Amino acid sequence: MKFIVQGGLNKPGLQGSIRVPGDKSISHRSIMFASLAEGTSHISGFLDGEDSLNTLRAFQAMGVHIDGPVDGRVSIEGVGMDGLKPPSKPLDLGNSGTSMRLLAGLLAGQSFDVELSGDASLSKRPMKRVTDPLAEMGARVDTAEGGRPPLKIHGGQKLIGIDYPMPMASAQVKSCCLLAGLYAQGKTCVTEPAVTRDHTERMLDAFSCEVTVNDSTACVDGPARLIATDIDVPSDISSAAFFMVGASIARDSDIVLQHVGINPTRTGVIDILKLMGGDITVSNQQVVGGEPVADIRIRSADLIGVHIPESLVPLAIDEFPVLFVAAACAQGQTIVTGAEELRVKESDRIQVMADGLQALGIDATATDDGMIIQGGRIGSASVHSHDDHRIAMAFAMAGLRAEGDIHIEDCDTVNTSFPGFAELAASCGLSIQLVDD
Ligand code: S3P
Repeated sequence: MKFIVQGGLNKPGLQGSIRVPGDKSISHRSIMFASLAEGTSHISGFLDGEDSLNTLRAFQAMGVHIDGPVDGRVSIEGVGMDGLKPPSKPLDLGNSGTSMRLLAGLLAGQSFDVELSGDASLSKRPMKRVTDPLAEMGARVDTAEGGRPPLKIHGGQKLIGIDYPMPMASAQVKSCCLLAGLYAQGKTCVTEPAVTRDHTERMLDAFSCEVTVNDSTACVDGPARLIATDIDVPSDISSAAFFMVGASIARDSDIVLQHVGINPTRTGVIDILKLMGGDITVSNQQVVGGEPVADIRIRSADLIGVHIPESLVPLAIDEFPVLFVAAACAQGQTIVTGAEELRVKESDRIQVMADGLQALGIDATATDDGMIIQGGRIGSASVHSHDDHRIAMAFAMAGLRAEGDIHIEDCDTVNTSFPGFAELAASCGLSIQLVDD
């Protein structure tokens, strides 16, 4: 599939009040924890996207009875911590790094062997960052060359708790260690070098499993038990981000995004857009199942270039593709540093975005750990998503300020995190067409 977006410069921008799909990180965790809990859990607002469905199918393949999703509702009969069954074949996790890294932790302490594989993009992503701490805990996990997938996990190992200072700011690595810690003897503690999303800690607590957090260290005591609960998944701020940037850069925009998760470890995109002069208001704040949610209103703004504080980078790590588009539409220069993790996402998001922005006529220079972008006029071009959902959606929003059409190749992976993106964006005023390529 490819997107064709009509140049929207001088046309009215985004309007309406919409609800974007459920949070991907929370959806993954809801399946994992409910599957291992004692009792039946009901989930609402579940993301019906390929990534979270891959996690769901993996637990079905390990014998868990799961109904749904139907309209975002899923029921899961938990099997308890030791109730999973060996799957009959390798678990194919598609494009989903979260599934692979979190499952590596959960499955390292099982009694059976299991293999985790993925698509071409996932097969290139680094896994040593999880297999190293797992080996310290006593797990046996083989990788392909260079620490890449597939992962072959050998069951029947006795895990022991460790103190792990994480070398990079990664919620996936933190979660992997804590989840292996649920099966380990003793305490497992992970210290992060910068704040990363804490959905694992919050949701374990909701499943009656104590996680102690002191400053930058989170600990669990093993062996642990989880007790079933109900989870209401908020809308994904990472999906909302496309509309936040789109509404900011397009003229006469005024849009409300309903029931968006505003966990403080995820709100970097709001802070960064505000630093750039964005007009954003957050209202109706409430806490749902341990996660804060709110409605977010965004109106058009004249954005200005800034040097993005490095402390905000991990809090907006998935939003950089579209933040680069915001920078391309801003007055002056935007500098991003400390964002080298972007090079090992679903694509090399620094290079791929710099290439696409240059093709559109923007002065964008990729650096080792970020980008320098001079705001300018967005022209017309055919750009590649490199099978990366967030790259595809970021360039779609760039269309709102483009002088001509933007063709975006290879957009099928948009379904991993945001099924119905093109339809929803069109309903708000983006001139986008989905065509077979
Ligand atoms: C995620 C953590 C982040 C993020 C990913 C989802 C999670 O990855 O990019 O989309 O659900 O824990 P890292 O932990 O590798 O930064």
